[in-house]
Amino acid sequence: MRIRPGIYWVGVRDPGLEVFDVVIPTEYGTTYNSYIVEADEPVLIDGVKKEFQDEWFAKIAARIDLADLKHLIVNHTEPDHSGSIGELLRRAPHIVVHGTRPALQFLSEQVNMDFNKHIVGENDVLDLGNRKLRFIMAPFLHWPDTMWTYLEGEKVLFTCDGFGSHFAFPEGKILASQQEVDFTGAVEYYFDKIMGPFKPKVRDALAKLEGLELEMIATGHGPILDVEVDRYIQLYHAWSFQAQAAEQKRVVIAYASAYGHTKRMAELIAEGASRNPKVEVVLLDAANTSPQEVEAAVSSFDALIVGSPTINADAVYPVWRVLEAVSAITAKGKAAAVFGNYGWSGEAAALLEERLEKMRLVVGHPAVKVRFSLTEQDEERCRQMGETVAASVTP
Ligand SMILES: Cc1cc2nc3c(=O)[nH]c(=O)nc-3n(C[C@H](O)[C@H](O)[C@H](O)COP(=O)(O)O)c2cc1C
Ligand SMILES: [Fe+2]
Ligand SMILES: [Fe+2]
Repeated sequence: MRIRPGIYWVGVRDPGLEVFDVVIPTEYGTTYNSYIVEADEPVLIDGVKKEFQDEWFAKIAARIDLADLKHLIVNHTEPDHSGSIGELLRRAPHIVVHGTRPALQFLSEQVNMDFNKHIVGENDVLDLGNRKLRFIMAPFLHWPDTMWTYLEGEKVLFTCDGFGSHFAFPEGKILASQQEVDFTGAVEYYFDKIMGPFKPKVRDALAKLEGLELEMIATGHGPILDVEVDRYIQLYHAWSFQAQAAEQKRVVIAYASAYGHTKRMAELIAEGASRNPKVEVVLLDAANTSPQEVEAAVSSFDALIVGSPTINADAVYPVWRVLEAVSAITAKGKAAAVFGNYGWSGEAAALLEERLEKMRLVVGHPAVKVRFSLTEQDEERCRQMGETVAASVTP
C-alpha cells in the first residue's frame, strides 16, 4: 500500500491481539508496520512478528523481488518487529542490515546466523543513490537498541515503537487521516505503558527533532501519522514532562485489610506523613480500587509504604497486585517501608520487604507489625513511621 511516492507499507494487522508483552492489555489489537522505500538501492524498514511472516513476504513480493532488495533497517529488535528477519536473511543473505550496535547484537542473538551488518551512529547517512536515509539515535525508547530513521526529501521519520499505538486500523486504512475514530487515547496508552518509564529519554529524542522538517511519522504500530504531526510531537512533549515539576514529594500508602486493623495502621501512618508540608500523601485501599487506579497511584512516587494483614502465612493478593503495578525500572532506589497486622505468625511484612528489596527499592524503615488490636503505643509507632519516611524523602 502506497503511503508516499515510492514508499509502501508492507506491514500486517493483528486485530485479535488481546495482551501485548504478556502484561499489557490491548483493547484494539495492533499492527506491525514495515515499509519498502524504493530507490536506486531499495530498502526495507523493520519487520513483523514471526507468526505473520508469510503475509509479510507476500506483500514484499508484490512490490519487489527479494534479490533486488539491498538494505534492511532495524530501528528496534524486539521480536514483534524482528521475529520475521531470520527468515528474510535466509531467503536473501545478501541484504545489509543497518542498526545501532545493540540492535545488531540483539538481532545476532535472535537469528543465530551470520549476516551483513552495518552499525550506524548519530546522524550517519545511508546513501541510496537518489535518496538518503539519516539515522537519529533514540536509545531506550524502550530498549537500549532503538533509533529513528529519517528519509531526507520526503520528510518522513520511521520511528518503530516511538509515537506508535496498539490500534488495528481497518483493512486498507493505514493513515491517521483515514481513521473514523479518534485514536489519540491509544497513542497515550501506548506512551504510558511503553515509554512511560523512559520519560527523560523521550525528551532527549524529541530534542533531536527540533528543526527537522517533518511531514509524516511512519510508526511501527497503529496508524501512520500523516496529519497533525506537530500535535503528536506536542503530546509526547507534554506526556514526557508530566509530573516533572512537582514540588511536593509523593508518599503512596497502599494497604488491604479484612477486619480494619491494617486499615487503621495505614490511616495513622498517613496522619504522620501528612504532618510534613512538603509531602502529598496518597492513601490507597488496594482491595477496593480498580487495577487502573492502582496503576495510576503507583506510576510515580517518592516513597511507597505497603501494608497487609497476614492471611494464611502470606500477604493478601490486592497488596501483591500493587507491587505488580510498580515499575521496577522507575521505582529502583526509591524509599519503601512495610506494615501489617497479624494474629500469630505474621509473615506478610517480611515477604513484602523481600519483594521490595528484590525490586531494588530501599527499605529504610523497619516494618511496623501489630498483633490484633492497636495499643496507644502501636498508634504512635504508626504515626512515627509516616513521619520518618516522609522526612527521608524531603530534603
Ligand atoms: C482466614 C485467615 C487466615 C489467617 N492466617 C493468619 C496467619 O497465617 N498468620 C497470622 O499471623 N495471622 C493470620 N490471621 C490473623 C489476621 O492476620 C488477623 O486477624 C489480623 O488482625 C487481620 O488484620 P486486618 O484487620 O487488617 O484484616 C488470619 C486471619 C484469617 C481471617
Ligand atoms: Fe518494542
Ligand atoms: Fe513494538
